[in-house]
Amino acid sequence: MKWWVACAMVLSAGVVFAQEGRSTSAPGSKVPLADEEDYSAAMKDVAVQNTVLRKSVASSSEADALKAAARLELIFKDVQAYWESRKAEDAVTAAKNAIAAAQNIGRSVAAHDTAATTAALQSLGSTCGACHTAHRERLAFDFYRIK
Ligand code: HEC
Repeated sequence: MKWWVACAMVLSAGVVFAQEGRSTSAPGSKVPLADEEDYSAAMKDVAVQNTVLRKSVASSSEADALKAAARLELIFKDVQAYWESRKAEDAVTAAKNAIAAAQNIGRSVAAHDTAATTAALQSLGSTCGACHTAHRERLAFDFYRIK
């Protein structure tokens, strides 16, 4: 192989690697959240999806509710992996509960079961507080970090 061919291959492999590296920080990817910045972005997305979910349930916009529930499930899978890598059992459990609640919301919305949807929304909401009390530190108004 000519040196410049080898060189071009190494370069293009590097580009692919760099692109994959960037995509890992997107919530819902197969690779866990890499650092606190990724984590914070994921939580901001959780908050957005949570609001969309509640509004769409209230206004009976099923398609939007299903989309938000599915997205929450994906983000919380990343969150679960993050805490597994830190061996924080309570946070792993909170993330698993959030995944289960998001799945229940999807199922009950699809089944037009209002009572079950309300119950699942409540259990989703309780996971936020459980994990935040133990693992979120408030540095200033609207500024948090992991503890
Ligand atoms: C498994 C633990 C866990 C669960 C469950 C969880 N959070 Fe969080 N959340 C955290 C931690 C830790 C932080 C602090 C880290 C940060 O903000 O960088 C945080 C931060 C946040 C922030 C601030 C983000 C920022 O950086 O400005 C919001 C908003 C938020 N969470 C919303 C929610 C909502 C809404 C839910 C429930 C639907 C939820 N979270 C469930 C652990 C969790």
